Amino acid sequence: WSPLGRGNVLDNPLLKSIATNHGKSVVQVVIRWVMQTGVLPLVKSVTPSRIKENVDVFDFELSQQEMLEIASMKADRIGADPDTCDF
Ligand SMILES: NC(=O)c1ccc[n+]([C@@H]2O[C@H](COP(=O)([O-])OP(=O)(O)OC[C@H]3O[C@@H](n4cnc5c(N)ncnc54)[C@H](OP(=O)(O)O)[C@@H]3O)[C@@H](O)[C@H]2O)c1
Repeated sequence: WSPLGRGNVLDNPLLKSIATNHGKSVVQVVIRWVMQTGVLPLVKSVTPSRIKENVDVFDFELSQQEMLEIASMKADRIGADPDTCDF
């Protein structure tokens, strides 16, 4: 959940660079990254234009290098770690 960091990822320079290379938005890169890890991204938007943007992620693919660069980003966790929390 919260794959966009509740909007906090939008200004990240690495994600901006990768998005520019693919002609896509930062949000589309993030959603694509989650998908390519084999996880279903649960993105939330109440804005119709954003909802359309968020599903327009099937016409490009991140390289292995880009996948690794994003995976190595340092970021604070927003919610609990599902591998360690007590649900
Ligand atoms: N099970 C759990 O414990 C748990 C925990 C956290 C979250 N969740 C659920 O997971 C879902 C997603 O989490 P979330 O809402 O916290 O975070 P999120 O999806 O990472 O971020 C949502 C925020 O990003 C904005 N946004 C969406 N698409 C955008 C776009 N294309 N461009 C710019 N901004 C965009 C939304 O704005 P607008 O809506 O204003 O467009 C909203 O402010 C929600 O349904 C939430 O209820 C579940």
